[in-house]
Amino acid sequence: MTTLLTTLDVSRLVARLGLPQLLAQMVEYLEADFRRWNDFEKCARLASHSEVGVIELMPVCDAREYSFKYVNGHPKNTREGLPTVMAFGVLADVDTGRPTLLSELTLTTAMRTAATSVMAAKHLARTGSKVMALIGNGAQSEFQALAFHHLLGIEEVRLFDVDPAATAKLVAHLKPVSGLRVVVCADTREAVRGADIVTTVTADKTNAVILGGDMLEPGMHINGVGGDCPGKTELAADVLQRASVFVEFEPQTRIEGDLQQMPADFGVTELWRVLCGEAQGRRSESEITVFDSVGFALEDYSALRLLRDRAAELGLGETIGLIPGLADPKDLYGHLMGEAAAASDARRAA
Ligand SMILES: NC(=O)c1ccc[n+]([C@@H]2O[C@H](COP(=O)([O-])OP(=O)(O)OC[C@H]3O[C@@H](n4cnc5c(N)ncnc54)[C@H](O)[C@@H]3O)[C@@H](O)[C@H]2O)c1
Repeated sequence: MTTLLTTLDVSRLVARLGLPQLLAQMVEYLEADFRRWNDFEKCARLASHSEVGVIELMPVCDAREYSFKYVNGHPKNTREGLPTVMAFGVLADVDTGRPTLLSELTLTTAMRTAATSVMAAKHLARTGSKVMALIGNGAQSEFQALAFHHLLGIEEVRLFDVDPAATAKLVAHLKPVSGLRVVVCADTREAVRGADIVTTVTADKTNAVILGGDMLEPGMHINGVGGDCPGKTELAADVLQRASVFVEFEPQTRIEGDLQQMPADFGVTELWRVLCGEAQGRRSESEITVFDSVGFALEDYSALRLLRDRAAELGLGETIGLIPGLADPKDLYGHLMGEAAAASDARRAA
């Protein structure tokens, strides 16, 4: 049988554990999986583009478990009452191919993206970073702000979005958080001035310049989240030129990240190498670092593992018949006809 976790189950999980605790556990799961990078069979995600968005499949597996995520990215969706990003995913046994978990991943993607950002910033941002600019105040933004506050010690967030209503929503959600100062800024330049960390998490299907090289200050860490698709970038090329750039899975980021603007021999470091001690993260107080985040399948594998483990402990979710439970594994037809006959009997009796 397969366990189904709905959006309500994930909300119940957050209610039971608290968001900061769940985010902290997500960082632990991510780090554990990134540290055994070479155990995984990896590929760039399969993307189906249209003029207005993208639909992607993100598979990954090790010797024991296989996962995939279905996810879209449609920046125009919010004008039509739908989220920009929607997702669900599956965890399966490699040994038999049996799907063990089918889960919502829209809420979870926001948590795993914020947790991945923190995992990177732990190694790339200056120790003692206190101020973060947050450009793009949409669906992902609360998760980024709260993850950086609770897990990395950010005490002030400086907000800007071209949509004032999005910023007002974010302010309303962050105001009650004790120890977090919230400053609304007139534009990106004002938000970024003096920030230790700059998170860009905007949605626009264009080569935007949210952050230019003229806005950089020595020692800044850039957490670039919204440039994640061919023709959809946030950072000017001179930001990347002046920084040390870190990525999830290089072959995918070359196609999808802000890195798509750079020549094929532009040097980057995969994050797992920093976690394993094979490469250095930040090298000095004045170095500018960029995490060119696009979202990699392994992050969803980690998130699905965490959901499965915590849901089992807390008795959340429901068992569903996604795969037929056959008395004889070679008799699919007999099973179907048996169930069809039972369904007709039940309809007649009703
Ligand atoms: N890297 C990852 O792993 C990952 C994961 C999830 C989402 N994303 C990306 O993050 C981005 C944000 O996602 P979301 O769900 O919050 O989308 P959203 O549509 O809810 O919010 C995006 C916000 O960006 C704002 N914006 C657009 N252009 C801007 C500009 N020039 N300056 C300032 N603000 C601007 C919009 O007004 C909107 O409020 C998307 O591009 C999405 O594809 C990346």
